[in-house]
Amino acid sequence: LSPYLFSYKGRNFTVQEGLKPKDLDALQHVDVRPSDIYMITYPKSGTIWMQQILVKITDAVYPHQEEDATNRLRFPWLEGCVVDSFQGQRPDPRLCRTHLPPDMLPIGVKAKRVKVVYVMRNPKDVLVSLYHFAHSWKMLETPKSFEAFFQDFIDGKAFMGSWFDHVREYENEKDKMDIHFVKYEDMLKDLRGEVVKLCDFLGKDLTDEAIDHVVEMSTFQNMKTNPKANYKDLVEKQRYSSPTMRKGAAGDWKNFFTVAQNEYFDRVLEEKMSDLPLSFNWE
Ligand code: PPS
Repeated sequence: LSPYLFSYKGRNFTVQEGLKPKDLDALQHVDVRPSDIYMITYPKSGTIWMQQILVKITDAVYPHQEEDATNRLRFPWLEGCVVDSFQGQRPDPRLCRTHLPPDMLPIGVKAKRVKVVYVMRNPKDVLVSLYHFAHSWKMLETPKSFEAFFQDFIDGKAFMGSWFDHVREYENEKDKMDIHFVKYEDMLKDLRGEVVKLCDFLGKDLTDEAIDHVVEMSTFQNMKTNPKANYKDLVEKQRYSSPTMRKGAAGDWKNFFTVAQNEYFDRVLEEKMSDLPLSFNWE
């Protein structure tokens, strides 16, 4: 494993964030309210995008939230709470995002039937996005080569461990949670349709105009120029060396995978995931 990462309960966390196994254990006892909304992703699957969408959906109903706060503050990162502020005095519904697997979540998420939104993305594009992010985020080791990173990702040695396990575990746990699965590619194809489904899931009754506003504020172009949504502050603080809004497209893996790598990846996907009742309609 990279010296920038440590493994705990089968997942890989960054050493430099200062997070320790005892902090991760403590997160299981974080205060959870039934009205909280959790967003869960494997990294680079559309977290910051869904963060903006959920901030806007809840904002439309709760307009009293602080207008000038960035999404990072309004929607804190659970396991990043050592560096980010966490629950604080935020009004309900409190939004919380995490990359943790189901067995490491706060116990209250299942026990209180909290609404969970799980975003997933074509793992080939996740791999490429994470490869670039590993060049940008100071907490991750710069990959030695694409080939080496490719193998690490398949072997579960990337940040947060195996994509395959993450998706499998949430799929397996879905009956124990109030969970709504969203695919990044479906958001690209029909963002409005996915926002409407999210509102239904969350029980938010938005007007057509409010839904249009959520969609408009969540396009790649708008988020690219919105410092409250795109983590520009982390670029300014030199935690990231490049913007989080990189390409925002499906199929970028085709610019990086060789034919042999693609065939190999398809075999791994088949081997590890074909028994799951998930439809992978990726290009
Ligand atoms: S992180 O660091 O785990 O929180 O990253 P995450 O937000 O999950 O993933 C980053 C990728 O999501 C893309 N993105 C978007 N795509 C389309 N539309 C919108 N609005 C959008 N917002 C973020 C972002 O560009 C990263 O993907 P890549 O492929 O690297 O461009």
